[in-house]
Amino acid sequence: MITRRNDIFDVEKKIAYFSSHQPDGLMVQLMGQNMMRKDGPDHMTERKTIFPAVSPKTVKNVWKTEFEEFTDSILANVKPEGHGDLVDIARQLCGDALRAITGLRNMTWQEIDRTSQGMIDGCANYAGDKQIEARCHDCTAFIDQNIDEMANVLRDCPDASLLSVQLEAGMTMDQIKANIKLAISGGQNEPRDVIAGIVWALLTHPEQLALVLSGEATWMQAFEEYTRWQSPIGMSPRQMAQDYDLHGATLKTGERVFLMFGSGNRDETNFARPEFFDLTQDASASIAFGAGPHFCAGAGASRCLIAEVVLPRLFEALPNLRLNGLTEIGGWAFRGPTTTPVAWDTEAMSESM
Ligand code: HEM
Repeated sequence: MITRRNDIFDVEKKIAYFSSHQPDGLMVQLMGQNMMRKDGPDHMTERKTIFPAVSPKTVKNVWKTEFEEFTDSILANVKPEGHGDLVDIARQLCGDALRAITGLRNMTWQEIDRTSQGMIDGCANYAGDKQIEARCHDCTAFIDQNIDEMANVLRDCPDASLLSVQLEAGMTMDQIKANIKLAISGGQNEPRDVIAGIVWALLTHPEQLALVLSGEATWMQAFEEYTRWQSPIGMSPRQMAQDYDLHGATLKTGERVFLMFGSGNRDETNFARPEFFDLTQDASASIAFGAGPHFCAGAGASRCLIAEVVLPRLFEALPNLRLNGLTEIGGWAFRGPTTTPVAWDTEAMSESM
């Protein structure tokens, strides 16, 4: 395990030693050889191909409006309830965002959420549980079927999505399917965990929420500090392609190493108060989205969805938002709330007050 922030920041770029090419790894076995499991020119070619679908320009000019529309309608739907589980609300928000970004508008947000969880469980299934493996295969087959269906539509009527830009670039269906499954597996749980997690963190640190509501701090600062503090992706694996000496330890060719983002993001060498959720501290050294050629392709879309659209609207649309029971946080490789019960005032309540 590589645990120090500056070491991770350094070795992530040394792909000649720290390789993402892991043909025997669970992700490749179950989901195909996606761009995150490639190095060098092969990786960069696919990275360049998907860039138009997740570029800052496309996020700003195409996805942001769509994020705003479905967020307003989802919040308008839940508002009369007066209470709910923020993890469930976040599932729908992230599922709808991925339907747009991937191009799979023929899937429902529930199907995006179910297949994402099925693949995440499959990739963490080191015990080799046959049921988990079978469920993962069922999820990947379901996504493949929907990609085939949607590809026929998008060939005639292209859009800005991951599926469409890869089709237009002439990528093979195997490459396209592997990368779309990567986006669904990596693009549903993490933003979901961050939306529910940030609200929990702000409601359990009212002095931090007050900074945002008074304008002394921004929702983006809350986003950057929370993803540093909790590291939704706590670890990412690499395989040694050559021997490498790190602080006197030799990492041998063929060995697997874990880049511990969760540890690096609490490195006292880089952060003033690493153990504390504090919006006033400098979080710019955070490696929550990685630190090398595999830096998260969805970082821009996530920052826009969560900090520019969802958080300000959530606290605006759900007055007196408050915790309504115990929030449970789970996981280390993938870390976040499994439930965040909340309540808020409804029109009926404010009229009767
Ligand atoms: C807050 C939410 C998110 C977090 C914390 C996150 C975190 C990460 C991290 C740490 C990596 C790098 C892994 C490594 O170096 O091995 C990564 C890669 C990736 N992420 Fe995200 N991610 C998030 C949201 C998303 C979304 C919404 C999408 C899709 C639209 C996405 C798509 C990807 C892709 C395609 C890669 C691989 C990039 C490459 O190999 O070049 N992520 N993510």
